[in-house]
Amino acid sequence: MTPLLQVTDLTKHFPIRSRAFRSAGGVIKAVDGVSFSVDAGQTLGLVGESGCGKSTTGRLLMRLLTPTSGSIQLDGREIAELRRSDLQEYRRRVQMVFQNPSSSLNPRQSVGSAIAAPLLAQRVTPAGGVKAKVRDLMDRVGLRPDHYNRFPHEFSGGQKQRVGIARALALDPQLIICDEPVSALDVSVQAQVINLLEDIQRDTGVAYLFIAHDLSVVQHFADRIAVMYLGKIMEYGDTERVFGAPEHPYTRALLSAVPQPDPAADRSGRIRLSGDLPSPADPPRGCVFRSRCPVHPRLDPQRRQLCTDSVPSGSIACHHTDVAAEALATTPR
Ligand SMILES: Nc1ncnc2c1ncn2[C@@H]1O[C@H](COP(=O)(O)OP(=O)(O)OP(=O)(O)O)[C@@H](O)[C@H]1O
Ligand code: SF4
Ligand SMILES: [Mg+2]
Repeated sequence: MTPLLQVTDLTKHFPIRSRAFRSAGGVIKAVDGVSFSVDAGQTLGLVGESGCGKSTTGRLLMRLLTPTSGSIQLDGREIAELRRSDLQEYRRRVQMVFQNPSSSLNPRQSVGSAIAAPLLAQRVTPAGGVKAKVRDLMDRVGLRPDHYNRFPHEFSGGQKQRVGIARALALDPQLIICDEPVSALDVSVQAQVINLLEDIQRDTGVAYLFIAHDLSVVQHFADRIAVMYLGKIMEYGDTERVFGAPEHPYTRALLSAVPQPDPAADRSGRIRLSGDLPSPADPPRGCVFRSRCPVHPRLDPQRRQLCTDSVPSGSIACHHTDVAAEALATTPR
């Protein structure tokens, strides 16, 4: 079965603006050969540290950015090379919810107008008219009818994000890119918004690409997980497998930092990563995780060399998963 969204070898390199680097042809490898798919009605969680390229991936999928190379197919149709003027239909089918509900809403636009905006921009007139559709959407996301003429400053963060979700639903999209939609919200409100997104998925069959820097946010929500580091996918698989038996040293380190409600279930302690995230303008040669990998220093010289000489590929981007578990079990934490 063709997946709803198929992303293959997607790359976005930004030219470096500083004069010294520009003359050397330097680029920031924000997204560097990323592949994954999202099935209809399913959720893919895209997780990783700040600066690893999650939002750039989301913006590429929305075609707010033009890819440097690679393929984006929706229902088998290539999107990566469409010109801006040909993107209108695609934009109906793929929508986005942003991290900061305050800055993604116009303070001078009423809530009703904000939700109606995609319908008007795409010249779509729903059967019962725009106002009725907006009222339906408001009801769907838990906003009251009297909120219609209110302005964003009168709303809490959680309510504003509900407006953002209603706006994203206005055109009945097949896929919504949710870029850290709950990370700016209080913890208690986060759960409400995630429950709302789950209910909407159950009712409408919409698919989500759900971006988060915190693995625990996607654990109970995503069907599949892609773990990103320095512009590349380190591990990709079904959520149950990734959480139950993580294989890449980076995934293991991230998971070891997720608090366990039951101390008895605590994994064998936290794996601390040394050093800072390298610059995406100058990533390590070979495996990009090499400079922080806790397994790498414990390998024999031949295996260590392979980490430098060739880029690991596949759904678990590590040459040495066979020894990683054992090495990590004996690594001082
Ligand atoms: N327009 C741009 N021009 C140059 N560099 C950019 C641009 N947009 C993003 N970058 C760089 O690309 C890298 C990835 O950025 P991105 O915003 O995609 O990361 P992220 O994973 O979403 O991070 P965060 O969790 O902080 O939101 C960063 O090093 C960032 O500085
Ligand atoms: S390829 Fe080498 S450096 Fe990269 S994650 Fe595996 S062991 Fe670590
Ligand atoms: Mg981001």
